[in-house]
Amino acid sequence: MNKTIAIIRGDGIGPEIMDEALNVLAAVADKYGHVFTCVDAPMGGNAIDKFGEPLPKDSLETCLTADSVLLSAVGGPKWDGMPKDKRPERGLLNLRSGMGLFSNIRPARIFPELKDASPLKPSIVERGIDFVVVRELIGGAYFGEHTTTKRGGEDYAQDIMGYSEHEISRIAHVAFQTAQKRRKKVCSVDKANVLDSSKLWRRVVTEVAKQYPDVELSHMYVDNCAMQIVKDPSQFDVIVTENLFGDILSDEASEITGSIGMIPSSSLGEGTRGLYEPIHGSAPDIAGKNAANPIGMILSAAMMLRFSFGMSEEADAVENAVNTALRDGLRTGDMMSDGCTQLGCREMGRAICERI
Ligand code: IPM
Ligand code: MG
Repeated sequence: MNKTIAIIRGDGIGPEIMDEALNVLAAVADKYGHVFTCVDAPMGGNAIDKFGEPLPKDSLETCLTADSVLLSAVGGPKWDGMPKDKRPERGLLNLRSGMGLFSNIRPARIFPELKDASPLKPSIVERGIDFVVVRELIGGAYFGEHTTTKRGGEDYAQDIMGYSEHEISRIAHVAFQTAQKRRKKVCSVDKANVLDSSKLWRRVVTEVAKQYPDVELSHMYVDNCAMQIVKDPSQFDVIVTENLFGDILSDEASEITGSIGMIPSSSLGEGTRGLYEPIHGSAPDIAGKNAANPIGMILSAAMMLRFSFGMSEEADAVENAVNTALRDGLRTGDMMSDGCTQLGCREMGRAICERI
C-alpha cells in the first residue's frame, strides 16, 4: 500500500521520539512492502517561532489531505507567556477541530514487565489494569464561548460548557463499538447531579445504549470515577466522558500504569484519517539529551497502522517488538529498574526496529 503521513515533529523531545517512530515505520514498510510518504506539517512552538502562528494554514491543509497524521508533542516554557491564540496548545486544539476529530481513545494498560512502576499497591495492580478512556474531543468547555469581562467592579471570566445531542450520540457510538471488541462494558462518566450538559449526556448515552444490547452500560459521577480509578481500576473496560473530564481522568488513568511514556492515543472523526500521538508532553527538561522514551510515540504509529490503514498484522509486529524489547530487559531512564539495561532514545528505537 502507498500512504501519505503528515508528520508533526513538535517541540522539546518531539523531534527525537518522532525520528524513532519514523525508523520503525521504515522497518515496517521494508518488511511488508509498503510505501509511506512523510510530509512535514509544522505545528506548536516551533511553528510560532518560524511562522508566527501555532498552526499555519499550510500545515492544516497537509494534515487534511494526508491519509493520517502523526504528532509527537508540542509546547514548552518558552511559549508560556504568549497570548492564548499564539500558544502551542491552540495549534493542537485547532488541529483537532479543523480535522473534526471528536473521538479520542486513550488506553490505560499495565505492561506486565513494568508493574512495579505503578504507584498503586500491588494488591490493586494484581487485579489487572486494562481499560480505555473514550474522550469527547471537540466540544464542551474547551470549545464553548470564553469571555473575560467586568462584573461588580472586578474581573469576571467564564467558559461555557455545552453539548448537543448529536455530539453526545456520536461519541457514545464509538464507546459502545469499542466495548464490543473488548469486555463489553461501558461506564459513562458525568456530573448529572449538578450540570445540565451532564443530564443531557446521560439521557443520550442511555438512548444510544439500546442499540447495543450486548454491552452493559453503567453511569458514574466524575468525582467518584476519579476515586474508583485508584481504588479498583480493574472494574473498568471502557470509560466514555466529555472533553474536560476526559482530559483529567485520562491523565490519572495513565499515571496508575506507571508508564506515561509508553501510552499512545488516537483521535478520529467520521472517516479513517486520524491523529495519533503519545499522551505525554514535550518534556523540555530532557530534550536533546537522547534520554526520552520513544515507546508511546512508536505505539501511536502502531495504532495508526491498525485504525487508519487497516494494517493489523503490521501493528501487531510493532507491538510485539516493543513487548519483546521490554521482556529482554531494555529500558529508557524513566522506567529503569534493577537488573535491566538502560538505553537512550535512539538505541531503544533501534532495538525495537531490530525486533520487527
Ligand atoms: C491533552 C492535553 C491537551 C488537552 C492540552 C495540551 C491542550 O492536556 O491532550 O490531554 O487539554 O487536551
Ligand atoms: Mg491532558
